[in-house]
Amino acid sequence: MQRFVMAIDQGTTSTRCIVFDQNARLVAVAQREHRQYHPRPGWVEQDAVEIWRNVDRIMPQALRQAGITADQVVALGITNQRETFVLWDRHTGVPIGRAIVWEDIRTEELVAQLGKQPGIEEVRERCGLPLATYFSAPSLRWMLDNVAGLRAKAERGDVLFGTMDTWLIWNLTGGVNGGLHVTDVTNASRTMLMNLGSRQWDPMLLDFFGVPAAMLPEIRPSTEIRGTTTRVVPGISITAALGDQHAALFGQTCFEKGSIKGTYGTGGFLLMNTGTELVRSKHGLLTTIGYQIGGEPAYALEGSIAVAGSLVQWFRDNLGLIHSAPEIETLARTVKDNGGCYIVPAFSGLFAPHWLAQARGLVVGLTSYINKGHLARAVLEATGWQTREVVDAMNADLGAPTPVLKVDGGMTADHLLMQFIADVLDIPVMRPLVAETVSLGAAYAAGLAAGYWPDLEGLRRNWHLAARWNPVMDARHREDEYANWKRAIELTFAWARS
Ligand code: G3P
Repeated sequence: MQRFVMAIDQGTTSTRCIVFDQNARLVAVAQREHRQYHPRPGWVEQDAVEIWRNVDRIMPQALRQAGITADQVVALGITNQRETFVLWDRHTGVPIGRAIVWEDIRTEELVAQLGKQPGIEEVRERCGLPLATYFSAPSLRWMLDNVAGLRAKAERGDVLFGTMDTWLIWNLTGGVNGGLHVTDVTNASRTMLMNLGSRQWDPMLLDFFGVPAAMLPEIRPSTEIRGTTTRVVPGISITAALGDQHAALFGQTCFEKGSIKGTYGTGGFLLMNTGTELVRSKHGLLTTIGYQIGGEPAYALEGSIAVAGSLVQWFRDNLGLIHSAPEIETLARTVKDNGGCYIVPAFSGLFAPHWLAQARGLVVGLTSYINKGHLARAVLEATGWQTREVVDAMNADLGAPTPVLKVDGGMTADHLLMQFIADVLDIPVMRPLVAETVSLGAAYAAGLAAGYWPDLEGLRRNWHLAARWNPVMDARHREDEYANWKRAIELTFAWARS
């Protein structure tokens, strides 16, 4: 009987269930989108029950598509949008309000206040993250302060906290009937509540944010989840969980120190494996756990770009200049350059390497010459320049230039953008044959834990090149354009502070 590994990728806009075979070939994909709620400007919420129902549909659907039964699935790995979390009643399983999404900036003022409190330097030292609306702890504090009676219930352990991995694992393993309340180190490392060294909840951090320990899940290594599904499709072993960007690092087989992957979806996320060394960034990057397979964790440096693909969506939905996202490349190719126009898409503040919560987006360089083709170029180039800023920071932190960037995610279908990234970094950009690296990484972790794949070397052999873009841009032109981009960033800062 042929055996397979399954992955669930609970992302920002949709949830997917993918089945892989031993050669990392994709056997089935089932996917459902969920609704985004924007109850006030800057607020972004999701319905955790809708997401759970989507899982309930896509798991059986993926099995049917693959033409297999549950007993052919050796292991299930869960991967998820990070930082987004939901609170729920332990006794009924009903969520308390909606999940607060990583893009939500309602805590801007709270973050400014917390930033003035004593101990803030210590906070960064312990969790590796700068204080920002992006991470779970400020939003969790906001919930505890704003929902009547919540804090008391949380202190009694009647309310549970979970990032989306935790929510799904709890539900899949029984929910109110003994569901496992666990998370993995990578997801926990995005909350601002975990100590990077001990990889456990840190009492000082819980105290700083005013979070009761009783509501938090147990933290485990990425490959030690050890649960069995009792709902949806019973009897499948859940053996691994990782945050989606960490899963992509793993799926891209970036196992060596210094190797980098860039995933271009809603946002853009670049992670560099720093091995067993916990590197503290001096250039605006985050220190995080890459993955933990067994005892030793691999640490990583991350440059998070808040807005990448979501800028193309905005261009399509809010400006109506294209009908579908892929059309942006065709439109951008109607002109030979950006015409002097730059867009800084600071919709939810600027993330790495600037971390400026109050920043808002801007378009500069408008003249009567600029048409929608130039704007399309500026939209794509914004992702390229933000990538350049992050890779410069990584090179500075590690003291050595990275030789190549491995990429994945929806935007890698855009050749113009991939060529532009290779040009502005002045290194080759490479995309693997299996573009579903997030799901693949979760499947790899789950399969390793279950003995389906023997070791990392075996996984590395599954990485096959599908496309490569080599840099061709003239050096002088590149640096002139980069200087223009930096001037646009300076203007963003000036506007935020005015
Ligand atoms: O940190 C947020 C990130 O994990 C979301 O990724 O691909 O769901 O937009 P994605």
